[in-house]
Amino acid sequence: MFQAVNHSKFAGDLPRNCTFEESDWRVLSNFWHPVAFAHDVQDKPVKARLLDVDLVVYRTSQGVSVARDICPHRGTKLSAGWVRDDNLVCPMHGLCFDHSGQCTKIPSMPDQSARIPPKMRLYSVLTEEKYGIVWACLSGEPGWPLPEWEGIGNPDLKNIYVPSGTWHAAASRHVENFNDLAHFPFVHGATFGNEEPAPVPLYKVHETDYGLTFDMPYLEGGNRFPDGVEGENREVVYTYELTFPFTTIIHIKPVDSDYVQYFADTVCPVSAHETRIFQVVTDTTDEPDEDFLVKESLMINDEDKGMVEGQHPEDLPLDLTEEIHIPADRISLEYRRALAKKFGLGAPIAS
Ligand code: FES
Ligand SMILES: [Fe+2]
Repeated sequence: MFQAVNHSKFAGDLPRNCTFEESDWRVLSNFWHPVAFAHDVQDKPVKARLLDVDLVVYRTSQGVSVARDICPHRGTKLSAGWVRDDNLVCPMHGLCFDHSGQCTKIPSMPDQSARIPPKMRLYSVLTEEKYGIVWACLSGEPGWPLPEWEGIGNPDLKNIYVPSGTWHAAASRHVENFNDLAHFPFVHGATFGNEEPAPVPLYKVHETDYGLTFDMPYLEGGNRFPDGVEGENREVVYTYELTFPFTTIIHIKPVDSDYVQYFADTVCPVSAHETRIFQVVTDTTDEPDEDFLVKESLMINDEDKGMVEGQHPEDLPLDLTEEIHIPADRISLEYRRALAKKFGLGAPIAS
């Protein structure tokens, strides 16, 4: 019933009711994760949840700020408040907080010129805005950089944002699915998949500075590219670039044209088995077809969602002997190996 004395509310603390193993939570808290689309954070605070931590995301003239969604006064949810005069205002007693989280005004104080103690401040979280996405690092000490996204980061190309969806699945299960090729004919026949199952060539996975990459030729069913090239099916090469732990971009290049589509997918581990998807798409046309790209992406996501939500176990097995692998699984094997070896994720639980 009572909170222990000396309980710390530092933004990097393990949340109560944490659904992650503690060691996994600590490792993941050192990465940047997406928490909102920047365009969704305008004149009102927005709530988010990352690694079981409730966050408030708000915008001032200094840019986007992220903090724990707890007022330091009496613990009210700040995301139910508002932004006024460049401050986030708590809905309960109206305390105001600036972009850095410092309290700037206590409306009920008799002497409004009295000094507000520096400790009256939000539990602020390290934040960056890039690629139209708000990123947060709970530990405040990112051990890994933000992904480098060719195409999406090119200011001459126009980015399209796919409305964010939530999957009841682990972030790592989503990433594996996003990098899996052998499911296209079976799951994506109604969109880009070629319903004729073809063998997946034995591809090589290469390590990059911050992740993994591989190339894959594929004969897509249908022709979804606005490059004026006719054809019932299109031969393409996909180049996948995965940035640990939960980010991937695919460069999609039809082999018979100069057209390139860049499809970026990064996910927020909301909790151990809940994942929020952020996708950004662009292409080398001046005016990517927003309606088509959004509709197509949402359909593809829907095709995957049910499959991934039904996978068992819900946690990605990082012990490679736990599931049986096929040759098309090279990327999945390298991904699992790296998560365990490089970062110590999925460490045996101390008894
Ligand atoms: S609880 Fe936020 S101002 Fe009192
Ligand atoms: Fe898929």
